[in-house]
Amino acid sequence: MNESRRRFLSTCTGGLAAAAVPYFMSAPRTLADETRAKNDRIALGLIGSGSIANANIDSAKAWIDVVAIADVDASRAAGFNEKHAGGKADVYDDYRRILERTDIDVIHVATPDHWHTKPVVEAMLAGKDVYCEKPLTLTIDEGKLIRRVQRETGRIVQVGTQQRSTFDLFTKAMAIVAEGRLGRITQIQAAIGSAPSSPSIPVAEVPRGLDWDRWLGPAPACDYRFLDDPEVEGKKDREKTNCHHEFRWWYEYSGGKLTDWGAHHVDIAIWALALNGQVAGPTAIGGTAVHPVTFRNGEPVEKDRYNTATSFFFNVDFPGGTKLFIRDDSANGVLIEGEKGRIFVSRGKLAGAPVDALKDDPLPEDAIAKVYKNMPLEHRERKAHWANFLRCAKERKEPISDVHSHMKMLNVCHLAGIAGRLGRSLRWDDDAERIVGDDQADAMLARPYRKGYEIELG
Ligand SMILES: NC(=O)c1ccc[n+]([C@@H]2O[C@H](COP(=O)([O-])OP(=O)(O)OC[C@H]3O[C@@H](n4cnc5c(N)ncnc54)[C@H](O)[C@@H]3O)[C@@H](O)[C@H]2O)c1
Repeated sequence: MNESRRRFLSTCTGGLAAAAVPYFMSAPRTLADETRAKNDRIALGLIGSGSIANANIDSAKAWIDVVAIADVDASRAAGFNEKHAGGKADVYDDYRRILERTDIDVIHVATPDHWHTKPVVEAMLAGKDVYCEKPLTLTIDEGKLIRRVQRETGRIVQVGTQQRSTFDLFTKAMAIVAEGRLGRITQIQAAIGSAPSSPSIPVAEVPRGLDWDRWLGPAPACDYRFLDDPEVEGKKDREKTNCHHEFRWWYEYSGGKLTDWGAHHVDIAIWALALNGQVAGPTAIGGTAVHPVTFRNGEPVEKDRYNTATSFFFNVDFPGGTKLFIRDDSANGVLIEGEKGRIFVSRGKLAGAPVDALKDDPLPEDAIAKVYKNMPLEHRERKAHWANFLRCAKERKEPISDVHSHMKMLNVCHLAGIAGRLGRSLRWDDDAERIVGDDQADAMLARPYRKGYEIELG
């Protein structure tokens, strides 16, 4: 066992003591207390140093030091190093150099969606614990692989669906559900907002320092595109590209809004069903999606502009007649309706008669802890999510956003994407994880990896 790993595990006793205290934030001993000593700080390797990595490392910096950064864009890695590591981290263009290091046990993957599965699997096989951003995968079959490797290696993998760690909003909503205050759930609506379209984005010169071929990685080879759209106000909204940040509007690298925000709100819907003891695997999915380009055989025909669905409405059937609607409207949040009442929960609000009723009939003291896998819920949101991951890594426990429950819900988002791209309803066998009676749709559970970027299974 290397020295860093020994130090990391040696703090377990303190962690277990803290786990016994109630969930609330005033827990007398927090993870931050435990990692205050210099020697207890965790050496973290970062893969992908873009916008969300900044927010994540800000949230985790009480406990971790970024000692290595991999990015295919040299200027991003350099800027991140200065900002978050005082220029002291080692910088690589190939993330595999980080995975080879024996002094790094914890990896954060914050690359675009098409670059999640490969580093996550290879990190687990290299003996690392991983915090990977949502959505965990680009396809359903990638999820099967990640789950298998996680089971085989026993590594701790947290997915960045930080809504699971919001004490007074989503987590509390889940406690209300789990305590039976809504009764059997009959219908859930997940409103996740619409996605933008774009004009034609011209082929452009690849910016200095960006390794475009490696950014594409497993995705199909194509030209780099960039447009500074003069029609639009505000620098951020003006810039259209098939690269940084905007990759989420290209089906080649993302599932569009369905996985970008679906990974947050569909997650709450499926979590609620599971906590309420209801079957959380769907049987069928249908609906409509409007794309800004023509799709033929599930593939975009025009290749020069954003192509993910700009508006959509999906209905998902579950055994027992429960329905989930995934909508593009802007009332961003989740409405959960049961036989005894309904609640609405979003990032700013938790409301409904069952919430009002808590004044006279509060939740039992351990209600949040039960939902939160009996781990302390320290801090808030993203910081709480990181605390949960790091504590689970120390104590070798399953984190709150484990890959298995994450994929249960991400399968729903991916299925909606396939149904939308093909323009037809699908039947789903949740045990076999196959689309029934539609070979073309079933073939879309996987995508080919570009030569040279296959996953290295060792
Ligand atoms: N949890 C949340 O609320 C939340 C919020 C925003 C984004 N995200 C997720 O985080 C991920 C990143 O999003 P972003 O907005 O930060 O994107 P971004 O484009 O700003 O950053 C991604 C970075 O990864 C780098 N990269 C690409 N391929 C790489 C490779 N092979 N090795 C190393 N670096 C590589 C890019 O150069 C870029 O710097 C996405 O999956 C997104 O869905 C989650």
